[in-house]
Amino acid sequence: MPIRIMCFQICSIGTFLFLLIVGLRGADSAQAPAPPALLLGTAWYPEQWPESRWEADLALMQQAGIRMVRVGEFAWSRMEPAEGQYHLDWLERAIAAAGRHNIYTVLGTPTASPPAWLTQKYPETLRINQDGRRAEHGNRQHFNWANPKYREMARKIAEQMAKRFGHNPYVLGWQIDNEYAEVSFDPETRAQFQQWLKQRYGTLENLNARWTTAYWSESYTAWDQIPIQVGYGNPGLLLSWMRFVSDTWRSYQKNQLDVIRPNSDARQFITTNTMGSFDGFDHYTVEQDLDLAAWDDYVGEGHLDPVQNGAAHDLTRGFKQKNFWVMETQPGSVNWAPINNALDKGEVRAMAWHDIGHGADTVSYWQWRSALNGQEQYHGTLLGADGAPVPLYAEIAQLGKEFAKASPAFAGTTVQSQVAILHSYDSRWAIQWQKHNDKYSPVDEIVSYYGPLRAIAQSIDIVPPTAALGKYKLVVAPGLNVLSEAVAKNLAAYVEAGGHLVLGQRSGMKDDDNSLQPERQPGPLVSLLGGRVEQYYALEKPIPVEGQWGTGECSLWAELLSAKDSGTEILMRYGKSNGWLDGQPAAITRKVGKGRITYIGAWLDPKIMAQAAKWMTDTSGVKPAFGAVPDGVEVSARYGAHNMVYVLINFSKQAQTVHLPAAMEDVLGAGSKQAVDLPIYGVAVLSVPR
Ligand code: GLA
Repeated sequence: MPIRIMCFQICSIGTFLFLLIVGLRGADSAQAPAPPALLLGTAWYPEQWPESRWEADLALMQQAGIRMVRVGEFAWSRMEPAEGQYHLDWLERAIAAAGRHNIYTVLGTPTASPPAWLTQKYPETLRINQDGRRAEHGNRQHFNWANPKYREMARKIAEQMAKRFGHNPYVLGWQIDNEYAEVSFDPETRAQFQQWLKQRYGTLENLNARWTTAYWSESYTAWDQIPIQVGYGNPGLLLSWMRFVSDTWRSYQKNQLDVIRPNSDARQFITTNTMGSFDGFDHYTVEQDLDLAAWDDYVGEGHLDPVQNGAAHDLTRGFKQKNFWVMETQPGSVNWAPINNALDKGEVRAMAWHDIGHGADTVSYWQWRSALNGQEQYHGTLLGADGAPVPLYAEIAQLGKEFAKASPAFAGTTVQSQVAILHSYDSRWAIQWQKHNDKYSPVDEIVSYYGPLRAIAQSIDIVPPTAALGKYKLVVAPGLNVLSEAVAKNLAAYVEAGGHLVLGQRSGMKDDDNSLQPERQPGPLVSLLGGRVEQYYALEKPIPVEGQWGTGECSLWAELLSAKDSGTEILMRYGKSNGWLDGQPAAITRKVGKGRITYIGAWLDPKIMAQAAKWMTDTSGVKPAFGAVPDGVEVSARYGAHNMVYVLINFSKQAQTVHLPAAMEDVLGAGSKQAVDLPIYGVAVLSVPR
């Protein structure tokens, strides 16, 4: 036999044998190539469709450049149709089928939707609403997150999944549960809360003192007298309940983490999907045990607001202080808003790039195709009920091509910021429970600082007040109402080391138990500031303010400040209003060595806020990440070891030309550019060596 033919035959036999082995063992036994830096994904529910349909779905996904599917998060009744009978073969086939189309899988543990047999057999696993009514089967999130039996069942299914798929090369990672939110008010949970209080406070004497229970005869003489209060109640109790809720979500999650981690490869991440500014638990508590932060980014009614949404991205990035995922986002429209309008043509693509600019590495659409029945028939999808692409599919396919093309430029890049905004759930809750002006929203307060600062710095980190602050030139704390001793020390040390700290209105009023500080605001930082809040006023209507940042108005809230130290400078004063505030300081600042501390006591109008932001960044030496751009163009920057990537998006209502500060490589187009033309919703991705 001629050598050439023999080789051909041996090689063919070898290839044949290899394919046979791979085919027999499933694609998962083959080595999966490393995923690209940017992934486009979708939520796929293979359990809702005949298996004969999967190939068609996966082929259409592949054609659109989709590289990731999230699977399984509501499929418990399919995975365990009866107690202890685990059926995971179908899931293995789905993962393998996706792998054959170059698509990775993220596995969701299905614990947000327990099966009917489970809740029927163990009714204590169903949560009890505040009105005392037990939840029923038929929707989701009907489980009791604190219930030991539920945890036992959740742990078992998570363990089965991990043992089966923890080494599957096409499984990139795990999503535990889905959008933690609902809690239970059953007597066992209340007993757990009382136990939690005992651990935290040690003695009832201590608890009574810290909560000032002498007020309204609230004093407790036995732990089991302590109620659960939500929304209205003793502020110390309210805060304790939310901390208990957060710790209980953490242990709920840990229950599954503890079986997934030892049974899976270290390369598989573990995450959960959160909901932007949702404050049902302290996300810093829960995220500390995860590898990756991920969130579900929905616009709902209306259109993308890059400031609001950008802040939510930056908040999520701050959970782990690294790149994150957009685990779900809307393909056009949702089904739960008052008006479920579609995003405009081009807006979905612009939004995806906005996500990437803020540090997302994956953008995944919810969902691929609507189930023919079920509660969400009207939600946006990429395929119609007929299984064929909807108009938006072409835009997603464009993104698929662009993500593939841009991935090498984004590899290893992260967001870096000179400015941090401090965000605390304790403070948000504390204000929320006692707004004093019902229009006062702590999230809006944060965004009122974030917007103008982001426009100047072109990058902001949102981090908890306990974070290491040394790398920031400017740290802004809007509404840091609850100021623990530890946080006060962290902030004072930052200022003393040369940083510029700006406290926004309502800061430094409460201690760690949500008690009033025994000093005026900002409590332990008064001496550093050389001034304080003499009195606060809820405003019925806007009142005038004037000073270094111009002339304008403030609304909702006004704190009358005083400057006691000779080094404390008055930046803004109130104009004529209620007599008390007339001519009094509204913003003060004091230099402390090379550092500085500033207090802003009023909710300033956007024009003055823009000037305030300019003053804050100028005084702190903050430089924009990119440089000047026309109004309405959003700039984001990601930094790699060898290059920087800028994402420019035109969110204005007209076409724009952006002149680049230097020649840059046009990543989505070709060649080097000095300027880029951006139509409405136009995107440019530009790379420069570092
Ligand atoms: C949430 C859920 C999804 C789906 C979408 C619809 O984010 O996680 O299962 O219900 O909302 O917008």
